[in-house]
Amino acid sequence: MAILDKHKILETNATLLLVFSFLVVTIGGIVQITPLFYLENTIEKVEGMRPYTPLEMAGREIYIREGCYVCHSQMIRPMRDEVERYGHYSLAAESMYDHPFQWGSKRTGPDLARVGGRYSDQWHVDHLRDPQSVVPESVMPKYGFLENRKLDGKYIGDIMQANAVVGTPYTEDMLANAEADFRAQADPDSDYDGLLERYGDKVSVRNFDGQPELTEADALVAYLQMLGTLVDFSTFTPDASR
Ligand code: HEC
Repeated sequence: MAILDKHKILETNATLLLVFSFLVVTIGGIVQITPLFYLENTIEKVEGMRPYTPLEMAGREIYIREGCYVCHSQMIRPMRDEVERYGHYSLAAESMYDHPFQWGSKRTGPDLARVGGRYSDQWHVDHLRDPQSVVPESVMPKYGFLENRKLDGKYIGDIMQANAVVGTPYTEDMLANAEADFRAQADPDSDYDGLLERYGDKVSVRNFDGQPELTEADALVAYLQMLGTLVDFSTFTPDASR
């Protein structure tokens, strides 16, 4: 009873209640936030994550420019219906080199976090050109013009440099060879050993859009085909200590 009486003092005095509420919220906040300053990294390490290649990076820029994120998310939530439809739930590490991230907040179309390798390059080209030709009920707009817009990779080094400034670990070597790597990835007849040396031998080197010229469609399809394929889930075990 006595303790309730004491509480009455707080409950009947608005200013005092405000001061004590503020104290409680402050303590709660400190308890939650301070440990984060002492953790070196809040992202669980996984095998396989690497910075995007210049061509994939260019595709990502087109993805953002065209507003694909308005209709597509890139975050598979850890719920059964999502995991059964799209695959393993998204890990924080999988978007660690996304500046800005592409999680999205609306799904008019399906999640694209693991769309890589699900369809052929030709399917993507056909689908971008005319979505209804492969999925008759689709409401996705046509992006055929991407096949006609040539790219030379002149500015891709600058974009990578900007990403390096905000933390993507692009090396001097990667930045210096950005333009060459950009062209090499879309041309299987080129000398692409340097590209694989810098980004790993799992990088796909193909003529993504099937045309002789290097176009925005090449870059976008290269990006889409990489999504969700980097992390090796056969070696991944969630770290329960976090
Ligand atoms: C107006 C909303 C809208 C926009 C904008 C949009 N899409 Fe879609 N997208 C859809 C819908 C709806 C589907 C499902 C039907 C289909 O496959 O076409 C879809 C399907 C897809 C698929 C197949 C996914 C799967 O798992 O089957 C890919 C890949 C895709 N979109 C890529 C893109 C890209 C890249 C862009 C930007 C250039 C884009 N979309 C822009 C609505 C949109």
